[in-house]
Amino acid sequence: MTILTFSARQGDEENSLKKAAKPAQSPSHQSNKRRYITLRCSLIFIFLVLCLLALCQAFNLNIINSVHDILSFVRVKPKEAKETPGQVENKKVPLPKLQLEKNPKENKKFFQNYPEAYVMKGISQKYDRIIAIGDLHGDLRQFRKILSLCGVVDKNLRRWITNRTILVQTGDIFDRGSQSVEILEYFWDLRHQLQADPELSEHNLILHTLGNHEHLKYHYVNDNELYKRGGEEGWKNILSLSHNVGYFLRQTPIARIVESSLFVHAGIHPEISLLREKYSPDNNVLLLTGENGPIWTRYFESKFYTERMVEDISDLSETNKKSVSNEEYMCQLVEQTVQKLGVSRMIIGHNPQSDGKVNVRCNGQLISIDVGISAFYGNNLGAIEIDLKTDNIPKKKKITALKTDKSKKKTPQKNLNKISQQN
Ligand SMILES: *[C@@H]1O[C@H](CO)[C@@H](O)[C@H](O)[C@H]1NC(C)=O
Repeated sequence: MTILTFSARQGDEENSLKKAAKPAQSPSHQSNKRRYITLRCSLIFIFLVLCLLALCQAFNLNIINSVHDILSFVRVKPKEAKETPGQVENKKVPLPKLQLEKNPKENKKFFQNYPEAYVMKGISQKYDRIIAIGDLHGDLRQFRKILSLCGVVDKNLRRWITNRTILVQTGDIFDRGSQSVEILEYFWDLRHQLQADPELSEHNLILHTLGNHEHLKYHYVNDNELYKRGGEEGWKNILSLSHNVGYFLRQTPIARIVESSLFVHAGIHPEISLLREKYSPDNNVLLLTGENGPIWTRYFESKFYTERMVEDISDLSETNKKSVSNEEYMCQLVEQTVQKLGVSRMIIGHNPQSDGKVNVRCNGQLISIDVGISAFYGNNLGAIEIDLKTDNIPKKKKITALKTDKSKKKTPQKNLNKISQQN
């Protein structure tokens, strides 16, 4: 077989030589020699380029990623997006193999209505802090920047460098910007780094909660991203159960409690019975679609209160209608929620903060962390850091600790400002 191939090739070469033959030819062995030298130079050149790439990889330089960024930026042409979807990249996106979170301590469910909500408690032996970041909306560059500012990744924006840290993202990775899938891939790359290093995996965690823009029923996606990922069909495939992205979204919980903090995209209304809706994994649709549900509600941003919501407030405070402001009413709700769930605070994204900063409201019981990180919402950089050591002291000790050392109480808030001011 090999001989056949070889002779066929030789024949081809002879043919092409004959075709190329010209009357005024230089001595054939000299031209062969020249060809040989050119070939050798090319090989050496290719070898050097490969060496350079290998070196970059070894030193974690970001060249390949930047090239990728530039390429995807150049490739995307918004105007063509609707005319020829799927022409450019109509193939399955190679995603890294995803491993599900298997933390036994996480599997204590709260709320029967919300089967995908988890509680983690008693973990301050393992972790020192929580870093929580809000809505990312398809902006990979800003996401990397915020991670680097929080000291989670190195200055090349690649390697996980912190320790004893829980990183929480509160949803809305998708839509608005065009790199939602890239952001997920980046998260998975970080997860793989943790999994690969026993010293890190034991003391670091990456957690997600679902945002309304990840709602499978609505397929929220930026036009450029849709185009890049093969149009409607390609996107449908990406969101399907058989794809890593679709699979990931289906196992992302609605809410999490980590020690004394509740993380949820939009907020949990204390009247949980009003929010009771069905969860149906079978038809691949999360039916948490209610406008007051935990990934949608605007009850936890008083400036977004609609007339109807204000009417509700008036109904509820019938005895003294005008004395309750929207903000006060909101804080009453928050108070009820945190009491019901036995937490000290609720941390939400979802509502872009007009000052581009993390805002602590309702005596620290409500923290809004959607600072508008993405370019679409203003390129603001802000996140929250919670010190688990000072927050997770058994109740009696906590009271003493607060009395003797008031500065400790404020530690999380100080960190907060430090980070959110870096914009
Ligand atoms: C992370 O912290 C743990 C516990 O303190 C320690 O055992 C481990 O060596 C640290 N890992 C790294 C990479 O520093």
